[in-house]
Amino acid sequence: MEFPTTRLRRLRKNAKIRDIVRETKLLKEDLIYPIYFKEDLQGLEKEEISSLPGEFRYSLDSGVEFAKELESKGLKSIIVFGIPKEETKDEIASPDYSATGIVQKAIRRLKNETNLVIISDVCLCQYTSHGHCGLIKENEDTDDGIEILNDESLPYIAKVALSHAEAGADIVAPSDMMDGRIKSIRETLDENGYYNVMIMAYSAKYASAFYEPFRVAACSSPHLGDRKSYQMDPGNAVEAIRECELDVVEGCDFLMVKPALPYLDVVRMVRDEFMLPLVAYNVSGEYAMIMAAIEKGFLTERAITESLLSIKRAGADLIITNFAPYLLLNDVIE
Ligand code: PBG
Ligand code: ZN
Repeated sequence: MEFPTTRLRRLRKNAKIRDIVRETKLLKEDLIYPIYFKEDLQGLEKEEISSLPGEFRYSLDSGVEFAKELESKGLKSIIVFGIPKEETKDEIASPDYSATGIVQKAIRRLKNETNLVIISDVCLCQYTSHGHCGLIKENEDTDDGIEILNDESLPYIAKVALSHAEAGADIVAPSDMMDGRIKSIRETLDENGYYNVMIMAYSAKYASAFYEPFRVAACSSPHLGDRKSYQMDPGNAVEAIRECELDVVEGCDFLMVKPALPYLDVVRMVRDEFMLPLVAYNVSGEYAMIMAAIEKGFLTERAITESLLSIKRAGADLIITNFAPYLLLNDVIE
């Protein structure tokens, strides 16, 4: 009888051995927590989000309290989203760049009361009456009869980014997918003296079905049409390199691939091609899908760490994820 001389199972013998040979580990500092501040909520109110079990829309006070709790458990960075009052939305996203807007207030509070790295999502869609990420006009030559205007939207997006920088954001993260937005934000920040505020570009952002739970949570679905004329086509990977290249040339500091799990090949390609810190967005639908399966008893919680680990193994340095509280508050990771 021949016995194998090379035995890979030796390296799996027990937990002690497995722990020292593990190639990829999930760390607390890898996590960025997306937090949703809703203008309508008062005091310590919070609202559970039906599409994201275990996740909430927060008032200023309750959100800042929760951020502090996560920080005490080792969270290092947070990305801030705002849900403005429905009646304040208009065609040009006015509540988005107001110094007293919900996000600007949240950033100021978090900056003063925590030591977290504060990232802000920069986009128009939660603030426009039509729900698109840019300004719109009628155009019969499009799928839906409306054109999402590129160049006309840039000054508004830059204005939003500037208002976040003024409120104290360390990093602004444009998620609109207009061409040229990084350049226009960089110029605006620099002209106003915010040359140390970083830009995390949602570079390869796909027109994905996995954003649905977020849009329900943030009331940010487009009222007419979809986002396919500005977000990337799911069939394209090479194009992601062009998107990243442009953002690098225009001066971004971080690259991002979004969503994460259905696009791990893109995460790996971008990792191999560029030398900037790489973020992957484990989006709302990725969270909802696993949570629903756990609730039904089809999966156990181990599926959470395994899927996040796959994102890290694919090459992401940082992961934006709604699972951050689960990992930190239950001491799942070191
Ligand atoms: C806004 C924005 C979206 C997400 C982040 N910023 C939604 C969209 O583009 O429709 C998605 C976040 C998630 O699904 O977790 N542009
Ligand atoms: Zn948007």
